[in-house]
Amino acid sequence: MDAITAITSRTSVRRFRSDPVSRATIERLLECAVRAPNHKLTEPWRFVVLTGRARDSFAEIRARHRLKRFDDQTSAEARAAADKVRRDSLETPAYIVALTAVSQDEITREEDYAASMMAIANVMTAAQSLGLGTYLRTGGVMRDQALLELALVPDSFRVVGILSLGYPAQAETPRRRKPAAELTRWLD
Ligand SMILES: Cc1cc2nc3c(=O)[nH]c(=O)nc-3n(C[C@H](O)[C@H](O)[C@H](O)COP(=O)(O)O)c2cc1C
Repeated sequence: MDAITAITSRTSVRRFRSDPVSRATIERLLECAVRAPNHKLTEPWRFVVLTGRARDSFAEIRARHRLKRFDDQTSAEARAAADKVRRDSLETPAYIVALTAVSQDEITREEDYAASMMAIANVMTAAQSLGLGTYLRTGGVMRDQALLELALVPDSFRVVGILSLGYPAQAETPRRRKPAAELTRWLD
């Protein structure tokens, strides 16, 4: 699949088949990640791949994190929400936790964050081209101490996104966007 088709056909994928994604495939995706543009070649990105038992631990972390949204964490509603997150996570073959370096310098910090997000976008496009689906999430779980410990996030790094990865259970239609022409001004 060419790059333009991969970009324009990508959607966030919520449901995955149970087939695993091979280590070689994930390594290939991450080689695409590190080709992202990067001012001053700081190479701020790091990746933590969660599969197998690490994925199961993350499912538990997500479920417990979801419970925190509820005043009464023992309610049926809270337990159902946590169970759903746990189930969805256990049905996700792999997660890529993306980290970025947190520089003391404000401009470097912003540029490094941008580069790391571009690295994630590369993974998403490359995955689409190989018939894989992804779903990028941020949210509070990124700062959950249990995740930081599971992923061994060093002090000078932070999590910038968590990418679900797997073979899509079903084809999905790309979601609505305004045409770029409506959002573009041409100055000649
Ligand atoms: C930086 C970033 C953070 C996101 N965080 C979340 C998230 O925490 N939860 C979520 O459901 N989707 C998250 N998304 C995915 C968007 O909701 C999704 O891209 C949007 O609904 C458009 O759908 P599409 O990707 O299928 O075009 C995030 C996307 C980006 C770029």
